[in-house]
Amino acid sequence: MCGIIGIVGTKPVAERLIESLKRLEYRGYDSAGIAAQVNGVLERRRAPGKLRELEAVLAAHPLNATTGIGHTRWATHGAPTEANAHPHIAGRVAVVHNGIIENFAELKAELQAAGRVFESQTDTEVVAHLLDQALSTGLEPLEAFEATLKRLSGAFALCVLISGEDDVILAARNGPPLAVGYGQGEMFIGSDGLALGPFTNRVSYLEDGDHVIATHDRARIFNASGTEVVREIKTVPASAVLMEKGNYRHFMEKEIHDQPEGCQRTIAAYVDTLTGRATIAGVDFSTLERIQIVACGTSYIAGMIGRYLIEQLADLPVDVEIASEFRYRQPALRPGALAIAMSQSGETADTLAAFRHCAAAGMKTAAIVNATESTIAREADVVWPIHCGPEIGVASTKAFTAQVSVMIAIAIAAARDRNRIDAAEEQRLVRVLIEAPRLIAEAINLEGSIKDIAVEIAKARDVLFLGRGPMSALALEGALKLKEISYIHAEGYAAGELKHGPIALVDEATPIIILAPYDSWFEKSASNMSEVMARGGQVVFITDPDGAKHAPAGARVVVTAPASDPLVSALVMSAPIQLLAYHVAVVKGADVDQPRNLAKSVTVE
Ligand code: G6P
Repeated sequence: MCGIIGIVGTKPVAERLIESLKRLEYRGYDSAGIAAQVNGVLERRRAPGKLRELEAVLAAHPLNATTGIGHTRWATHGAPTEANAHPHIAGRVAVVHNGIIENFAELKAELQAAGRVFESQTDTEVVAHLLDQALSTGLEPLEAFEATLKRLSGAFALCVLISGEDDVILAARNGPPLAVGYGQGEMFIGSDGLALGPFTNRVSYLEDGDHVIATHDRARIFNASGTEVVREIKTVPASAVLMEKGNYRHFMEKEIHDQPEGCQRTIAAYVDTLTGRATIAGVDFSTLERIQIVACGTSYIAGMIGRYLIEQLADLPVDVEIASEFRYRQPALRPGALAIAMSQSGETADTLAAFRHCAAAGMKTAAIVNATESTIAREADVVWPIHCGPEIGVASTKAFTAQVSVMIAIAIAAARDRNRIDAAEEQRLVRVLIEAPRLIAEAINLEGSIKDIAVEIAKARDVLFLGRGPMSALALEGALKLKEISYIHAEGYAAGELKHGPIALVDEATPIIILAPYDSWFEKSASNMSEVMARGGQVVFITDPDGAKHAPAGARVVVTAPASDPLVSALVMSAPIQLLAYHVAVVKGADVDQPRNLAKSVTVE
């Protein structure tokens, strides 16, 4: 989603804004722009498309200033054109915005009736006009900003420049995150710590409802009721702002390869290697009646895998629901259940809303997040972080396996707390989990053969992924990854549903990818494979050594992942499907890290 940066600086600002916007690219965007005060006058440069287009505009028309604001826009209201790109300027005001101003239509009508002329189709432009109007009544910048904020409804993060008010930036947060960075005689506002990374590691995260006025040497922060407040300044660890691809071509490729380490760090946080126990702090699973997981996208699929494992091992009912559906129906919530929000970013608007819905029903809340300063993390009763480091590729990979790792640890802890396993079995399962990163690394070593398969799959128009048990969830993930980054139509199905529809798609041109480790579901998956082949289907069979031995003859390709306990097979089988999607996208020349129309963190509904 949109990225924001603001700098009250002492050095040339244009290059710095671009540097920061590059670090926000991962969120997904389709146009970009910057604005600055040049001799007391607002100037801006904007361009549709990628940041290189904006850089070209800047090369032709430089902006010489030290204070400015910048934005990467993910279009909501209005196409990604230059006219709709931020910053939006009205009179003395330039504004950048992340989120949606829900009452913009009525505000726009009011402003137009007052003679104001709009240049864009965006909701954002009303903010610039409202603030300019308030300033024209003689209010001071802070007062005018406060008056403007009172008129807005919806979710927004804003950053504002006012001409004639040199070296002042105003910002506000109501929903999407915003952070204040403290430099030496310089202040920064950014969507996240990554954006501020090149300038400072001293950061305050604004609370919902906060607004701020930043000058060279200080930031005054006010809460929703207008009281000046102090927000703790935290030191962001270097590891949290590292954005290097190393020797990899894409962040996604690097992040796939990061998984053994990311899972290992995550697992280490949830098991005690000495005692062989799973250590999930903050929740007693013995008294829980249910778990309700809410999530979106890949995080939702991690939750589905969790449901299989927790119900099977701990006999504890688990519901997993897509957050955008959950929040708008009337789910029958009971206080005796635990709500878990699963979210890499911790900012996904629908997940946050569903999570708040659970909290309001009196449920205890837990958050499984990568961003520990995120809204979801800060609102949760219990936070179970994943420890895979920042994920930059829009298509989630290492966060997914880290989330699944936490789910497995929860399944073990819940099984123990509910007396479904004894100490010896707990120790065995913990050992299996600790061994998983090594197996993930072995599965990643299949990359060479997966690259060859990718060349073939890249020619397909449709691809079907099938699996049973946790592999049915992984089939969804395989299809999601492929469609996200290669734009090939793909569907994931529980293999048992094959005969209820997808079998109609089977022909020689549609590759069918069957995920089937040699587990209790194997025979049935192998039968499905035979059914597909009997109809001319081209099967790619992803299995393990025993599965390869018992596979019906005739699969076009057999990928043999390392043998693993069913507890961790979803972790081990993830790498082949991620690598497949990645290499298909590379063959097709797609923009792997920033697929079209997608955003890393979806902060609007
Ligand atoms: C977007 C991303 C996905 C991600 C989903 C949920 O759609 O492109 O990769 O899985 O949001 O994000 P979250 O941050 O809540 O896990």
